Amino acid sequence: MDAVAAASESRASELAALRTAVSPCTACRLAETRTQVVFGSGDPDAELMFVGEAPGFHEDQQGLPFVGAAGKLLERLLGEIGLTRDDVFIGNVLKCRPPGNRDPLGDEIEACQAHLFRQIELIQPRVVATLGNFATKLLSGNPTGITRVHGREQNVRLGQSEVLLYPIYHPAAALYTQAMLRVLEEDFRRLPELLGRQQAPATPVEEVLEPAHGEELGAPSTEPQLGLF
Ligand code: URA
Repeated sequence: MDAVAAASESRASELAALRTAVSPCTACRLAETRTQVVFGSGDPDAELMFVGEAPGFHEDQQGLPFVGAAGKLLERLLGEIGLTRDDVFIGNVLKCRPPGNRDPLGDEIEACQAHLFRQIELIQPRVVATLGNFATKLLSGNPTGITRVHGREQNVRLGQSEVLLYPIYHPAAALYTQAMLRVLEEDFRRLPELLGRQQAPATPVEEVLEPAHGEELGAPSTEPQLGLF
């Protein structure tokens, strides 16, 4: 077996071990109401990873991320750039469904974030596309809302990994708003170019990380809340 195949095999088995370790998680209150942990799915060697917010009803039932209406849109957008969900890895900030699909709470994000960071460290994607406010704020470490930062890539260090972070609108939000859908489609079309970059000449972090007044990580956003599921 060559070195690339060996690395791929070890990554897949470490990710499988992480899945097993996370499945009985009781680190937050969501363990009491979930059907199951939704670990994430896709290619352990993916160059492109998507990070959404949290499982909804269907995801909680099936144990897979983005299998409802938002997932169908995500699959269509992927298809338009020549990819399927098996070519990428799809995860979420929270691995368990918040009751009634309410927003994630700060302490739930805190309890769950180590799982996401470990996934990123293992997969080592080149590009991490954050879907909506919660993933964007967590992974950029900045409270600026998605309306201001969507479509603006930035290099970030996440643990041991240097990735190109690419915030885009959450597909569930775009389901209800035509204007947002057009922006999401436009931002999505840049993904092949970002994946093709050798050394990403991204917008310097300082230019992107300019907090909007009153926004905080994990705090209620000043942006309109959408029925995400
Ligand atoms: N919305 C998300 O953020 N994640 C899912 O898995 C499904 C819908």
